[in-house]
Amino acid sequence: MPPSPAGAPILCVVGARPNFMKIAPVIRAMREANPPLPVKLLHTGQHYDPEMNSQYFRALGIPDPDFNLEVGSGTHAAQTAEIMRRFEPVLDRERPAAVLVVGDVNSTLACALVAAKKCVPVIHVEAGLRSYDRAMPEEVNRVLTDQISDLLFTTEKNARANLLREGIAGEAIHFVGNVMIDTLRRNLGQAVPAGETIARHGGAPALGEGAFAVLTLHRPANVDDPARLRAILGAIAAAGRRIRVVFPMHPRTRARIDEHGLAELLDPAAFLVLPPVGYLEMLGLMRAARLVLTDSGGIQEETTALGVPCVTLRENTERPITAEEGTNTVVGHDPRRILAAVEDILLTGGKAGRVPELWDGRAAQRIAAVLRDWLDRNAARLVA
Ligand code: UD1
Repeated sequence: MPPSPAGAPILCVVGARPNFMKIAPVIRAMREANPPLPVKLLHTGQHYDPEMNSQYFRALGIPDPDFNLEVGSGTHAAQTAEIMRRFEPVLDRERPAAVLVVGDVNSTLACALVAAKKCVPVIHVEAGLRSYDRAMPEEVNRVLTDQISDLLFTTEKNARANLLREGIAGEAIHFVGNVMIDTLRRNLGQAVPAGETIARHGGAPALGEGAFAVLTLHRPANVDDPARLRAILGAIAAAGRRIRVVFPMHPRTRARIDEHGLAELLDPAAFLVLPPVGYLEMLGLMRAARLVLTDSGGIQEETTALGVPCVTLRENTERPITAEEGTNTVVGHDPRRILAAVEDILLTGGKAGRVPELWDGRAAQRIAAVLRDWLDRNAARLVA
């Protein structure tokens, strides 16, 4: 591919729900830099339901994408391949100065790979996180994306050591903090009160602050195997007799529960099932919860930032700082361990935790400063 023209934009990529909270502050910081950094936004369309997608754009003030590849769902191979196929002509036409990807979803790797093969520099925000569990599709996406990135922005200190072990050059790595927490801090004041969200979905009005737990569950490892899903829901139903569980349900999880006939486990005395909720609703729910149970990556970080105890329904975490310094306890999927962790939090209040270094709401500004410097140094490469 010919070199990018001078002033060519950095092309930012999003695809799935957890990307949206990460890109919002990056784009804002680039546009607010003095002078502004040229930026364009591409959405792969990996997530497309309004409740997984457009309502996040609105709530987070993300500009409409300049490009939408509308790939939709598919197997990992089909989805990744389709994103690559549709991304290539956009890259050829736009000739951006760099492609910036966030997180670890299929869109992240697919677009990074197309760019790297065309010698377009790749920038990875949230680099170096490792669960060391290759059965997790996101782990594969993380390792491969980092290998082909030219600039790597990390959220926690351990990430640098992970990257150096994999042969990444130290000078490419920048510890800037956590852009997801930039978004959390910016939006906390606008969070929808939990009572409103619960009442809107028909929940008991008496379910006030601290009187409920929040559950999110969607990892293939937890929801695709009916025996595992049954065990987890059974344990949480038992916990739900002690504290009601508000459960905004991911479309994948709903499909598996229906498919395996597990809906009877969702005893309404224990669970309040909601559709996927918007970002500001989720913030309000988490903030007011006594505890959160989750298999998400980002929610482990958000609960640490909020100081709310988190029980992680996975065998490992790629975000160890949330357990070392924050409020997170990683328990896996054993029903006895899940119940014991909930019981402990109800009795003792759980880990108090502290907010990790540089989770201060200014990560995206640090990224913009590094990008400015990097663009200036690379200007010689660009055609006038
Ligand atoms: C993806 C990410 C995961 C992230 C999650 C958050 C990868 C490998 N995984 O997983 O890291 O935590 O997003 O949500 O990229 N579906 C809809 N509507 C949508 C999107 C998906 O109904 O808008 C359904 C599809 O039918 C699909 C299923 O949900 O079968 C899974 O969607 P997919 O994008 O493949 O991955 P997620 O499980 O959402």
